[in-house]
Amino acid sequence: MSSSSVDSVGVARLLPGGPVADRVLGEVAAEVVALRAAGVTPSLATVLVGDDDASVGYIRIKQRLASELGFVSPHVRLPASASQVDLHRVIEDFNADRGVHGVLVQHPVPGGLDYGRALQVLDPDKDVDGMHPVSLGRLALGLPGPVPCTPAGIEALLAFHGVSVAGREVVVLGRGATLGRPLAMLLAQKRATANAAVTVVHTGVADWPRFARRAEVLVAAAGVPGIVRPEHVRPGAVVVGGGVRYAGRRLLPDVDPSCARVAGAITPRVGGVGPTTVAMLFRNAVGAVRRAVGG
Ligand SMILES: NC(=O)c1ccc[n+]([C@@H]2O[C@H](COP(=O)([O-])OP(=O)(O)OC[C@H]3O[C@@H](n4cnc5c(N)ncnc54)[C@H](OP(=O)(O)O)[C@@H]3O)[C@@H](O)[C@H]2O)c1
Repeated sequence: MSSSSVDSVGVARLLPGGPVADRVLGEVAAEVVALRAAGVTPSLATVLVGDDDASVGYIRIKQRLASELGFVSPHVRLPASASQVDLHRVIEDFNADRGVHGVLVQHPVPGGLDYGRALQVLDPDKDVDGMHPVSLGRLALGLPGPVPCTPAGIEALLAFHGVSVAGREVVVLGRGATLGRPLAMLLAQKRATANAAVTVVHTGVADWPRFARRAEVLVAAAGVPGIVRPEHVRPGAVVVGGGVRYAGRRLLPDVDPSCARVAGAITPRVGGVGPTTVAMLFRNAVGAVRRAVGG
C-alpha cells in the first residue's frame, strides 16, 4: 500500500468517493457524446416499487444524473401493493423495447416481492446493477460484463487513492450478494488493482474480530450499524465502510467513526462508497448501450 502503510498510527487520511465518481462520470459523459454523435440515444430505464424514503431518494439522484449525462430515462413507479407479476410485466416490457439499453430495478423491493426472481426476468444484456446471475457468473469466471456497482466502486476508490491491495490481506465483513461476496471475487482477480489475499467473515465466524484485526484493508459489508469498532482495526489499516442501514432518511454506517483514530486511511461517513456506487451504475449503463449497438 502506498501512503497508508499498516502499523503507522495517527488520524486517518480520508478516502472520499466524490473525486473517483467525478472521473468515472466524466468518462461516461464523453462516451455518451460519442454514442449520440453516432446516432445512438443511450437509454436507462428505472423501476421503483413502493415509497421507501431511501429508495425514492436514490432513484431521484439516478434520474437526475441520467439526464445530466445525456441518457433518456423512462421510469415506471409501481405501488407497494404491486404483485410479483406486475413487476415482471414492467421488466418484460423494457426487455422488449429495443430503444431501452439498460434497466435498473431499485433495490430493496417491498416485502412480499422477490428481487432475485425479478432479476432473473431481466435480459442479462440490460443488467446495469451487475446483479443478474449471468453477470455474477461472468464475474466468477473473470469474463467481461457488468460488475456489481458497490464492489466495482470500492476497487476503483482504492486504486484512485493509491491503495494497492495486491498481495495484501483484505478482510471483508459480510458475504451478502450485493457487496461482500462479489467484492471478494473482484479483489481476488488477477489484475493490477486486485490480486489481493481475501478473507470473508460473517455470522458463521464467531471470532471474526480476530480476522479483522489482521487485515491490511478491512471492508465493512454487514449492514449492522457500528459493528466495526477501533479494537477491530489493525493500527494503520485501510478501512472501507460499505455497509449501511437507514433509519428513515438517517444513514447508520457499519464503521464507527472512532475507527479513524486507529486506521491509516478511512472512507468518510458520507461521500465514501455511495458516490462511487452510483458512478459504476452509469459505467455499466454505457456498457449496456455498447452491447446493444455492437460497440
Ligand atoms: N454504500 C452503498 O452504496 C451500498 C450499496 C449497496 C449495499 N450497501 C450496503 O452493504 C451492506 C451489505 O449488503 P448485502 O446485500 O451484500 O448484504 P446482506 O445480504 O444484508 O448480508 C450481510 C452480511 O453481513 C453479515 N453479518 C451481519 N451481521 C453480522 C455480524 N453480527 N457478524 C458478522 N457478520 C455479520 C451476514 O452474515 P451471514 O451471511 O452469516 O448472515 C451477511 O453475510 C448493506 O448494509 C447494504 O445496505 C451499501
